[in-house]
Amino acid sequence: MSNIVIVGAQWGDEGKAKVVDYLTEFCDLIVRYQGGANAGHTVIVKGEKFVFHLVPSGIVYPAKICVVGSGVVFDAEQFLKEIDELAGRGVDVTGRLFVSDCAHLVFPFHRQMDGAAETSASSDNKIGTTGRGIGPAYSDKALRCGIRVGDLTDWDYFAQKLSQSCAQHSRLLETYYSVKMTDTAEALCERYRAIRARLLPFITDTSQFIYASLYKGKQILFEGAQGSMLDIDHGTYPFVTSSNTIAGGACTGAGVGPTMIRAVVGIVKAYTTRVGNGPFPTELSDSVGETLRKKGGEFGATTGRPRRCGWFDSVVLRKSVELNGLTHLALTKLDVLSNFSEVKICSHYEVDGKRLEHFPSNLQVLGRAKPIYETLPGWNDDLTACKSLGQLPTNAITFINRLQKLCHGIPLLMVSVGPERSQTIEVTSL
Ligand code: GDP
Ligand code: IMO
Ligand code: MG
Repeated sequence: MSNIVIVGAQWGDEGKAKVVDYLTEFCDLIVRYQGGANAGHTVIVKGEKFVFHLVPSGIVYPAKICVVGSGVVFDAEQFLKEIDELAGRGVDVTGRLFVSDCAHLVFPFHRQMDGAAETSASSDNKIGTTGRGIGPAYSDKALRCGIRVGDLTDWDYFAQKLSQSCAQHSRLLETYYSVKMTDTAEALCERYRAIRARLLPFITDTSQFIYASLYKGKQILFEGAQGSMLDIDHGTYPFVTSSNTIAGGACTGAGVGPTMIRAVVGIVKAYTTRVGNGPFPTELSDSVGETLRKKGGEFGATTGRPRRCGWFDSVVLRKSVELNGLTHLALTKLDVLSNFSEVKICSHYEVDGKRLEHFPSNLQVLGRAKPIYETLPGWNDDLTACKSLGQLPTNAITFINRLQKLCHGIPLLMVSVGPERSQTIEVTSL
């Protein structure tokens, strides 16, 4: 094993957390490096289901160390709720969960701004955010008026900054959206006094901590959130999230150099889903899309929204291979494709009568892209008990081989055939 980055290769919800949980056994440290509580990461172990928004998915393994890195926008109330839930289920995080002092805080007024911006946008401009305050919190960070987790160590300084920020956001909410801020500065300060007391033990210079761990030869797994097509720079802008979701985000978000990373695993669903708005060339608005949603349980782990579903899109994947420098693919939810008489893979697009092999950055072009499919024979076998590639039906193997070939031939690390940790077929080792 070597230090590994796990990234979503599509539009999120590829099953990253399942793979993170599976690989955690072989790692020492699991680091979230970007995004925030917009993530919904599901881990299922022996029938027990955990959904994480901020706490790294590796926490389920006893004794593994988990880090929330500097690039994360950190909703302290959500974090405390998560660790309380974990404690209630017998998962002790004491001494093995750390939060970066450089991570920016997400406050209730950020969530309010997020909601107000979405409500006031015209239907064409609504992004369909998770409402978790992600965009406004990253905006404050870029504007250099954000408040960081480390600011909590000096109460007077923090309280003054929070009062200023409340005044500023209250003006913004009233001026732009004619909305009154829900919390007064005083009430929020009081709430944060209690939050601070609980949070102080977790606050750490995590970049230094990660480097020291690397130096000691510890294995690190960087857990990405969202998906490559939601990257702020390279995704389907403006229908994206507000962070760098691609592998490079692990370096900036965790505070490590690129030389520390040896493998980048792209998590790839055997079909495609998207939550929220924005172009989605292989989207199926028919009964096939509905069947995928039902069989795949495609409802958001954060918002419960139904996910839009469609066939596998190799144009998206080729873009993802390039953006992330993927060294391996982990194919998930292959079991969901059982019982279709035929399965389809989009090999390329057709735009204005021309063949297009590459994912276009221009949204208007993408909006006109017509998916061109290769149709392969389906299979009726239940895959969920398969333990090796050899146990998969021939047609499923043909599907995997074709998919892989269309994705620049990147080697397969594993195939996931069910949500349980044990429902995993190892193909190669890292
Ligand atoms: P993430 O955000 O990428 O971690 O993915 P989510 O947790 O939001 O969504 C993935 C969903 O698919 C979760 O409900 C998982 O339990 C489930 N899942 C993961 N891998 C598989 C698989 O191979 N087969 C099936 N049927 N479900 C899976
Ligand atoms: P995980 O880590 C899927 C989507 C939202 C919306 C857009 C912007 O579970 O894969 P935001 O709240 O980030 O400002 O919303 O990004 N989105 C996700 N879609 N999985 C996620 O996370 C997502 N996080 C954000 O639906 O379209
Ligand atoms: Mg998710």
